[in-house]
Parts: sequence; C-alpha cells; structure tokens
Amino acid sequence: MTHLDGKIDELPGSIRNDFPLLSRTIDGERITYLDSASTAPKPTCVIDAVARVYGSYTANVHRGVHLLADEATEAYEGARGEIASFLNASSAEIVFTRNTTEAINLVASGIGLGKEDEVVITALEHHSNFMPWEARAKTVPVALADDGLPLYGEVESYIGPRTRLLALAQISNTAGIIAPVAEWAAAARRHGLPLLVDASQSASHVPIDVKALDCDFLVLSGHKLLGPSGIGVLYGKRERLEGLSLYQTGGGMVRYHGEDRVEMHDVPQRFEAGTPNIEGAIGLGAAVSYLRGLGMENVLAHSLGLGRLLVEGLRSIPGTRIVADSGPLEKRIGLAAFSLPSRGMSQESIARLLCDRYQILVSGGFHCAHILHHRLGLDGTLRVSTHVFNTADDIERVLSALREIADSSR
Ligand SMILES: Cc1ncc(COP(=O)(O)O)c(C=O)c1O
Repeated sequence: MTHLDGKIDELPGSIRNDFPLLSRTIDGERITYLDSASTAPKPTCVIDAVARVYGSYTANVHRGVHLLADEATEAYEGARGEIASFLNASSAEIVFTRNTTEAINLVASGIGLGKEDEVVITALEHHSNFMPWEARAKTVPVALADDGLPLYGEVESYIGPRTRLLALAQISNTAGIIAPVAEWAAAARRHGLPLLVDASQSASHVPIDVKALDCDFLVLSGHKLLGPSGIGVLYGKRERLEGLSLYQTGGGMVRYHGEDRVEMHDVPQRFEAGTPNIEGAIGLGAAVSYLRGLGMENVLAHSLGLGRLLVEGLRSIPGTRIVADSGPLEKRIGLAAFSLPSRGMSQESIARLLCDRYQILVSGGFHCAHILHHRLGLDGTLRVSTHVFNTADDIERVLSALREIADSSR
C-alpha cells in the first residue's frame, strides 16, 4: 500500500486509548484535540518511562559511580540510540538540546557567521528558523506564491557568493506541505554549502532518513513528537558537528580541566554541558519507539488522508482562505492554517469559541510566522493540526463547527 493513497484507516482507532489526555472533558464533553503542531499529547508509554526515572533510577548520567547512575546512563544513551535509528543516523551524531529553537541557535552560533554573510531560508519559516540567523547574519528568504507556498524551486537563484548555509522546514507549521528537501540538498551540494532541515513538524508525520535526505543538520523538538517538553535533538553529520564552535561550556562536556590545558569530550557530549534533561531524553526515546511500532509509513498515510479530508472540507466553506492551498494534496499532512470569514471576530476569538462551545482545541493567531501573515495580508489564522490518534470523525467535527460559525457570521 503506497503512502500516496492517504488512507485514514491505516492506523487503528484504538490508538486513542493510548493517550490519557484524550479522555479529558470540558463542561462534561470529551475534548477533540487538533493542536498537535503546537504540542502533542503523550501516550502512556512515555508517561510511564518518565515516571520510572523518578520512581526507580533517579541519578545523574556520565558521572555517577553507583548502580542507579549506571542504569540512568544506560537508559539515557539507549534513548540516543533509539533516536539515531529513527533518523537513520549514528548515536555520535545526535546531540540533545532543549528544543528545536536551541538546536538552531547552537548551529547558528557555532558556524562562525559574520554580519555580511547570508543564510537562505523561506519567507514562511517559523521565528525559530528565522531569528537565530537574523541575529548573526543576513537572511535571504525565498519568495512566496500568493497563497503563501514558498517558491521552493527557485532556491538556486537566491544563492550568492556570501551564502553560508541553507535552512528550511521540511514541513512548515503553517503550510502543512512536505517541502522538496532533496532539491535544496542538491542545490546545497552544488554550491558546497551546508543544509539545515527543521523537522519539528515533519518528524511526527513522515519517515526521516538523514542519509537519504543528505542534510548536514536536522533539528526537532520532543514535545511535538509525543515526547516530553524541554528536550530536543540536533542531528549533524559528524564532521559538521566537529566543526562547530562550542555553544556553552561547563560540567559534563570536559574530559580534563587543568591549569595547563582543557580537553573536551568528543561529539555529541561536548555540546551537552551541565546536567541534561535525563527524563526528557528517556521519554523521547519511548515516544520514538512508540511511533516506530506504529510504522512511519502508516503514520504518513494516515496523516495525508486526514489532510486531504480537512482541506477539501475547508474549501467547501465559502470565503475561507487556506495557506498554501495550491500545494499538492498528496503532499499535505493533517495540518492547515486558514482564515474563516467572520463578522468582526478575530481568528483567535474563533479558536476560543471552538474550545468553549464545541470543546475542540486548535491554534489561533500568527503561529510564530508574522512575515507570512503580513505578506498575505492576514490578521491571523486558525490552525487545525492532527497526530496519530486523530480520526476522520475529529475532522468532521471541526468542519461542522466551522461551517456553523461561518454561517452565523454571514
Ligand atoms: C516549523 C517549526 N520550527 C520551529 C519550531 C520551534 O519549536 P520549539 O518551540 O519546540 O523550539 C516550531 C514550533 O512550533 C515549528 O513549528
């Protein structure tokens, strides 16, 4: 079965039972959670993995000399290995960070950018893949079509003698379309430049193979990937990581500190100064292994099916504008940002109404993509985003509520 079929029944509906949060009620009604692009509910196996650290083997890693420290270190490094397999990388190429934002800052501060250097991105990147570059160099954003879809194919015309790096989201948190990363990787190779892929949205929806993508860096956040908050990942090709200057220094990353010299650990430990988020990393390892158990091809098929249903339904509501509506449906995951016609009501207020009247949780506002909204002349958008536990019923519920709201404001 090819993932392009976008079959919604690719994942069993019983998956919902794995997520205790989905039994939460508001005003006595069960919630419909459609806000996973912001942060995702956690399956019981992740909650249990974190609780086990606290209940059974709380200890510091890489420095303790007792049994619990051995167990904690083994579980922490085991999680690194699990994440490495998930991305088809090696453990030495996986650095734990706080989140995507910190991972991008680590690269931006480590590659030695100067004010006149240029970083090619797209104009709809999340602030976290915009501002860290902007703070140190010039950003050169690839233009957007009228509906906000980046003109990805034009990337090469933005590369110049001062370009130092290309960076793009594999799936933008507002467009919801799988970007042609391979095209950008090929352009990067032709110009001898590194490519950073922001996988904070895509890692929950598409199988990722960093070798096949041929990217130099890839970043993601645990909390969107069914894992805990406060844990993220920077993948880097080993030689790329070794070429980065240090982002922070302190305990845990130093092999020897004497008055005569300092000797750092090898990558990845060299970038993990201080006590890391041990339970976060272990929880993320459990989340990734849960997703691998479902099969990422199935996860993708499910997401594409929900994406199609969502966008076709939104198109049938007169006056609705969908970001990146021209993007091919076979590349649209279960995520869409759109503006609903409303008489004087802001998109944020509609999101609040969806919660208060219908118990449906979505995002409303600018989703850390101000430039996109500015270019499209949109004063905010609503965003519906799915994960593995969502069903066609959830999409029907939100569409029906949106139709009611749109009808009542005509
Ligand atoms: C595409 C994209 N990049 C980066 C980020 C930043 O992630 P975090 O806040 O977890 O660092 C987000 C978060 O919404 C995102 O959607």
